[in-house]
This record gives sequence, C-alpha cells and structure tokens, in this order.
Amino acid sequence: MKPLSLLPVLAFVVSSSAIAYDEYILAPKSRTLHPASVHNFNGSVTGPESLTKKSTGNSPTTFQGESAVAYDFGINIAGFVTLDIAAVSDADQYIGVTFSESSYWVSNASSDATADAGKDETLWFHVLSPGRYTAPREKERGGFRYMTLVHNGTGSVSVNAVEVHYTPMPHWADDAIGNYTGYFHCDDELLNRIWYAGAYTNQICTIDPHYGDALIHIFQINSSVSDATNVTWYNNYTITNGSSALVDGAKRDRIVWAGDMAIAVPGVVVSTNDVISIENSLNSLFDIQNTSSGQLPYAGRPFPTALSFTYHLYTLIGVADHYLYTGDIAFLSSLWSKWKLAMSFSLSYIDSSGLMNVTSPADWLRFGMGGHNIEANAILYYTILQGIQLAEALGDSEPIANWTLVAASIKSAANRLLWDEEVGMYRDNETTTLNPQDGNSWAVVSNLTTNSSQVERISSNLVRRWTPYGAPALEAADAISPFISGFELQAHFLAQNASAALGLMRLQWGFMLDDARMTNSTFIEGYSTTGELHYAPYLNDARISHAHGWATGPTSSLTFYVAGIQLLSAGGRTWRVAPELGDLKHVDAGFRTSLGFFGAKTEIGDGGLEMELEAPEGTSGELRVPLLACKGRVLLQALSGGCGDTVVEVAEANVGSVTVADVEGGKWKVTFTCSA
Ligand SMILES: *[C@@H]1O[C@H](CO)[C@@H](O)[C@H](O)[C@H]1NC(C)=O
Ligand SMILES: *[C@@H]1O[C@H](CO)[C@@H](O)[C@H](O)[C@H]1NC(C)=O
Ligand SMILES: *[C@@H]1O[C@H](CO)[C@@H](O)[C@H](O)[C@H]1NC(C)=O
Ligand SMILES: *[C@@H]1O[C@H](CO)[C@@H](O)[C@H](O)[C@H]1NC(C)=O
Ligand SMILES: *[C@@H]1O[C@H](CO)[C@@H](O)[C@H](O)[C@H]1NC(C)=O
Ligand SMILES: *[C@@H]1O[C@H](CO)[C@@H](O)[C@H](O)[C@H]1NC(C)=O
Ligand SMILES: *[C@@H]1O[C@H](CO)[C@@H](O)[C@H](O)[C@H]1NC(C)=O
Ligand SMILES: *[C@@H]1O[C@H](CO)[C@@H](O)[C@H](O)[C@H]1NC(C)=O
Ligand SMILES: *[C@@H]1O[C@H](CO)[C@@H](O)[C@H](O)[C@H]1NC(C)=O
Ligand SMILES: *[C@@H]1O[C@H](CO)[C@@H](O)[C@H](O)[C@H]1NC(C)=O
Ligand SMILES: *[C@@H]1O[C@H](CO)[C@@H](O)[C@H](O)[C@H]1NC(C)=O
Ligand SMILES: *[C@@H]1O[C@H](CO)[C@@H](O)[C@H](O)[C@H]1NC(C)=O
Repeated sequence: MKPLSLLPVLAFVVSSSAIAYDEYILAPKSRTLHPASVHNFNGSVTGPESLTKKSTGNSPTTFQGESAVAYDFGINIAGFVTLDIAAVSDADQYIGVTFSESSYWVSNASSDATADAGKDETLWFHVLSPGRYTAPREKERGGFRYMTLVHNGTGSVSVNAVEVHYTPMPHWADDAIGNYTGYFHCDDELLNRIWYAGAYTNQICTIDPHYGDALIHIFQINSSVSDATNVTWYNNYTITNGSSALVDGAKRDRIVWAGDMAIAVPGVVVSTNDVISIENSLNSLFDIQNTSSGQLPYAGRPFPTALSFTYHLYTLIGVADHYLYTGDIAFLSSLWSKWKLAMSFSLSYIDSSGLMNVTSPADWLRFGMGGHNIEANAILYYTILQGIQLAEALGDSEPIANWTLVAASIKSAANRLLWDEEVGMYRDNETTTLNPQDGNSWAVVSNLTTNSSQVERISSNLVRRWTPYGAPALEAADAISPFISGFELQAHFLAQNASAALGLMRLQWGFMLDDARMTNSTFIEGYSTTGELHYAPYLNDARISHAHGWATGPTSSLTFYVAGIQLLSAGGRTWRVAPELGDLKHVDAGFRTSLGFFGAKTEIGDGGLEMELEAPEGTSGELRVPLLACKGRVLLQALSGGCGDTVVEVAEANVGSVTVADVEGGKWKVTFTCSA
C-alpha cells in the first residue's frame, strides 16, 4: 500500500471568529474612501499625490489655471464626493469632477455614459471659499474606479482632501461591508480572485433603493440625436420598498431585472447571504404585476411596461430560488397566488406544437427572440418543474398534475422540433440553423435534454466555439455575454466537464479581471469577441456597465460545483456534496443559510483524497466522493453529530465518483485511499 502523502490536519476556519480568507475580500473597511494613486495629470498641479490615501495629512494639492488630475481608487467603488477646499484665489473658482469605471473613458471633459448616447456631464462645484463641498445625494455615482478633478479658467484652488462616501450595502454597518458569510479558496489564485470579484460585484449592485435610476433619457437620446458630452444624470428614483435592493448594474440602470438576479442571487447567497435585498427586489416586481393577466414586468419601476417571456419567468425562478436558499415558507406563501397566476399567463402561450410561442422580442438584449424559441421554452420547462416543487412544499396539489403533463409535452416537443442531431445542439427555433449559446446552455441547466450524450455534445460544441476572449453568443451578433456564459459554466459542470468550466472561467473572467481597461474588481456587462469594449446591443460603448450582477456566474458555480456544496431543498434541509475539481488539487468553501453552516474541503494527494464536510444538525444529504484512477476504499468518519460513527464504502478502481446516501448533518471526515 502506498503511504498517504496528504494534508496537514484539517480544521474548519469558520470555527474561529475571523472571516476566512478575508485577504481576498475587496469590499472597503470604511465608508470614507480616498484615491489610491494618481492615474495621470495635465497642466499646473502641485503635489497631486497629496490627495491619495497614502498622503492624506500632507500639504494641499494646488490647481493653477487649466489643469486636471485623474485619480485611481484601485477598485470599482460607488458613492458621493466631498471636496475639502483649503484656499481659493478668488470667488470665481470651480472644480469639476468626472467619473469612469474603465481607464478607457477617463476624461477631463465628461464622465463615462449612463444614457444611450453621449457622455455624462461633469459635476461642478463652485468653490467660493475654503470649506467642505459635498455633492447632493442624487449625484452619487454608482460605479467608478477613476475620478478626475478639473480646474478651468485662471486663478487657483488648493484642495486639502477629496473623499468619497461609499454607498453600496447601505443596510450593513460601516465597518462590516466585507463581513462575508461565505468563502472560497483553491490552489488557483486567478479563480480565487474571480470568486471574490463576483461577490464584490453583487455588493456594489446592492443599493439604497431611494437612489435608483430615473431613466430620464430613455428612448429620448441616441447617437443619431446627440453625441454631447454634457448629458444630464442623477440617481434619485425610489425603485423598491425597504432600505436596500439588488439591482442589475452599479453605474447604469440601477433598477431591478429578474433575469440578472438568476445569476446574481446564488452568488449573493454563497458570499453575503443578503436575503433582504433579494426580497425587496422580488417584491417590487410582484407589486406591479398585472393582476388580471398575471403578466410580470420586464424590469422594475420606473422602466416602461413591456412584456418579456423570459424575464417574466425569471421572476418566478427568483421566488423558487429564494425558497431553495432560505426555506422561508412564509415569503413563498405570500407570493404563491401571484406566482400561479403568472404561470398561467406563460402556459397560455403554449400552442398545438406543445411549445410556447414567444410573441415579444424582449430578453437579455439578444436578437431574434421569437416563435418556438429554445431558450424561452427551456426556461419555461425549468420554471414549471420548480413550480411543482413549490406546490409540494406548500401542500397545494391542485396544479401538479397539469404542470407535470405540460412539462413533459414541452420536453418532447422541444426535442422533436428543435434538436439538431447532425450538429449535436438545439436550434434557436424551427426556421433557423443558428445554435444559440443561451438556449443550449439552458437546455442542459433545465434538463430539457433526454440523455447524457446530448449534454456531452452540447458541452463540447460550446467549447469548440470559444474565441480568445471567451464564449460567443451567436444569437447576439457574436457578443460575449458574461450573463449567458454563466449558464454555459453550469452546463459544463452538469456535463461532468469541469475542465471546460474552469477553462472558460480562466479565459473569459480572467480577461474581465486582468485587462487594463477593466476594473480588476468587478465584472463587465458585455463586450466584443475581438476584446473591444463594444457590446453589440448598444450604440454607445461608454454606456457599458463594468459592474453587472449578471456577470458573476463563477462565484456560485465555484461553490456549488467545484467545492460541490449544493442545497437541494428548503434552505439546505437536504443537500449534496459533489466536488468536481478538474485540474485543481485543493478546494475549500463554505456558506451560511438560515439553517446554519455548510462547508466542504477537498484535497487530492499522491496516495488518495481527503475531505471534510459540514452541514447543520437535522439536515441530511448525499455525498459524491470523486475517485482517483486507482483501486481503493472510501471511509466516512463522523467528527461530530450524525448517528453511526463510521460508514465504509469500498470502490472499484475507476475514475468517477462513489455516492454515499443519507449522510446526516454534522461534521464528517472522508478519506479515499489508494490501495495499490
Ligand atoms: C484635457 O484632456 C485633453 C485630452 O483629452 C488634453 O489634451 C488636455 O490637455 C486636458 N486638459 C486639462 C486642463 O487637463
Ligand atoms: C492628460 O492628457 C492626456 C493626453 O492628451 C490625456 O490622455 C489624459 O486623459 C489627460 N488627463 C487628464 C487628467 O486630463
Ligand atoms: C468653469 O466651469 C463652470 C461650470 O461649468 C462655469 O460656470 C465657469 O464659467 C467656467 N469657468 C471658466 C473660466 O470657463
Ligand atoms: C466586521 O468584521 C470586522 C473584522 O473582522 C470586525 O472588527 C467588526 O466588528 C465586524 N463588524 C460587525 C458589525 O460584525
Ligand atoms: C433616436 O431618437 C429619436 C428621437 O428620440 C428617434 O426618433 C429615433 O428613432 C431614434 N433612432 C434610433 C436609431 O433609435
Ligand atoms: C450641451 O452641449 C451641446 C453641444 O454639444 C449644446 O448645444 C447644449 O447647449 C449643451 N447643453 C447644456 C445644458 O449645456
Ligand atoms: C431628482 O433630482 C433632480 C435633479 O436634481 C430633480 O430635478 C428631481 O426633482 C429629483 N427627483 C426626485 C424624485 O427627487
Ligand atoms: C428564429 O431564430 C432566428 C435566429 O435567431 C431569428 O433570426 C428569427 O427571427 C427567429 N424567428 C422568430 C419567429 O423569432
Ligand atoms: C406565434 O404567434 C404569432 C402571433 O399570433 C403568429 O403570427 C406566429 O405565426 C406564431 N408562431 C408560430 C411559430 O406558431
Ligand atoms: C393544463 O391546463 C391548461 C389551462 O387550464 C389547459 O389549457 C391545458 O390543456 C392543460 N394541459 C394538460 C396537458 O392537461
Ligand atoms: C432529467 O431527465 C431525465 C429524463 O429525460 C430523467 O431521467 C433524469 O432523472 C432527469 N435528471 C434530473 C437531474 O432531474
Ligand atoms: C488586481 O488586484 C489584485 C488584488 O485583487 C492585485 O493583487 C493585483 O496587483 C491587481 N492587478 C493590477 C494590474 O493592478
């Protein structure tokens, strides 16, 4: 027998009060922020570094004549600015402030954009005399890494300090913005940074709902009307009840979009478990449901009324996800009659083909959404299956028989009409040969597929299409959609193709972190297959958001599939631990729900594999131990809780996994030892 060359003694980091791996957390430790460094400057400026964090307390920075300094905060932040003015040459002095998420749009004339055209106007302060000048609250900027101070005209202004009051996560204590309830760590530093940047992206998209986007220019300006650099902007529309809301983007939109939440919410659960912001956002959508038809909005207020077949369903998925991650039956009950009405609305579009006929193009801004679309029908199939589980949890048997039949008929019709056996992917609809990224990823995620060969073919066909910058969405003029690629990641894991999923994270999200035009802290909404900051659905490149919750797919996927901690029901009353490490040798993750802590750590050594797992007392689950290419035995030992002290399983030599069912909550140690 080969000796085990494994591991130090394993101990759950969470048992101490410190936050595990907190060195990776990007959230600031205080709400008062100063620039980290000088990006560049022009004109006569004395001591521009004095305004950076390192140098506060030094002599002031003096702007003389036409001059400007661009500062870099090092990460994407959000908030409103205060200038502490030391001296002015006369009462006719002004300091302007511009903001940009990307280094690409840094300018002394305007901010990056929030409207469909042009650039956003400079925020001007008339600095009459020494003192503190604070921007009005509606002039908070929702996302920026760079901030430029501009001095126009003659004369001079000396500035003691420039501060930003950080506004995201408004309902969390000022010193606790980074107090995460979950963590992730593995032996690939890029993946660690990706997990934490995803967690942070969702935080910066969690806002005070009184400062949402008023959408003042929606449908009013576009590039054929204006390329002005003085587009007005402010954020003061109340978008939800409560004191925090999860919105789609930090800089732009700042309103509730259910589709975005389908990726953002699981990322929130595994990192901050900020459930109240999710509830406020979901409630805001049901508040404006059409109470006779059941139709839910495309987006929350103040977005104009529009029908989106998919975003309607994503709102329903939001409720199912909420129940899965919280087990809060009261919240579910409060929305259940509305949920069923909304489901009837979707089902009423199923025609004699067995599929839903999509009659409105609104989706995630892809093109060609219509007819018997595969993505929309896969999402419908998934939502119906979620509905059956919710009905069972509520003891409402009435809709189950019908929903079960309808789901089965969607599945058989989709495979009959839309599966392309030659290609090994689904078509977008019956009248095209386009094989979309969204519909194929969703077909796997929803289990619309009927066999594992379809799943494997979809996974390998998606990989074959990757560009040097990531996975293209053919249905959106080849744009790279970090949103849809989040579902593609899940599809690869479900195909047992962890190496593809990790490969895509490194390729696409690695680019999204490390490219010099990115924020190195939050994930962009979309870009081009050529790596340009151009997103096919938009005319105005400066409008692209660099912090979009829908781009945070790796965060939940790393926890759910790589560490392998999956909640199967009601806040984790039942669960599965099924690590898929790909080429990794070590992974350690955990998170909390209202039921308690779930954690799993897996280490692969030369002679075997060792795991520790933990789940709350009173829960039960299934363990899938990944096997190495050797004969061996799996040993399960209770470290605490659980009943039977040890369970022993003997596995044949192969690569794959061995499943141990009915594992009770508690702490367990698992070893797989190669015997030869
Ligand atoms: C403003 O930026 C332009 C380039 O866009 C540069 O030529 C000019 O010198 C800058 N002006 C000031 C006052 O910094
Ligand atoms: C300074 O001028 C350069 C060159 O024109 C420009 O790229 C840069 O954005 C300007 N920076 C500021 C702070 O004005
Ligand atoms: C500086 O900008 C402010 C705000 O736009 C404007 O009122 C003022 O006239 C400008 N000063 C000069 C000298 O251009
Ligand atoms: C947040 O964490 C920090 C550092 O671990 C700790 O000092 C602080 O007390 C925590 N704040 C709250 C409100 O838990
Ligand atoms: C641009 O906006 C104008 C006026 O708001 C509108 O008439 C026109 O159709 C828009 N053009 C495009 C390409 O959206
Ligand atoms: C904005 O700039 C345009 C020229 O690009 C000008 O016509 C317009 O008056 C400006 N608006 C304001 C409010 O300064
Ligand atoms: C929002 O701010 C703008 C600009 O300051 C102001 O005109 C508007 O009345 C404000 N709206 C609300 C709802 O406070
Ligand atoms: C079918 O799919 C193609 C490709 O996406 C699209 O161009 C076409 O508009 C779709 N048909 C309908 C009815 O939406
Ligand atoms: C979907 O419904 C529209 C509007 O009723 C109709 O024109 C279209 O032919 C239908 N599409 C299919 C694929 O049946
Ligand atoms: C399910 O219910 C809907 C609406 O009541 C009805 O139109 C449909 O025929 C039913 N489907 C099945 C398969 O029972
Ligand atoms: C997926 O569907 C197949 C039938 O097509 C079924 O056998 C299988 O259990 C389903 N998988 C899951 C995870 O529900
Ligand atoms: C990006 O951020 C990481 C910390 O998350 C830091 O170690 C790294 O140096 C940064 N990269 C650049 C190019 O600034």
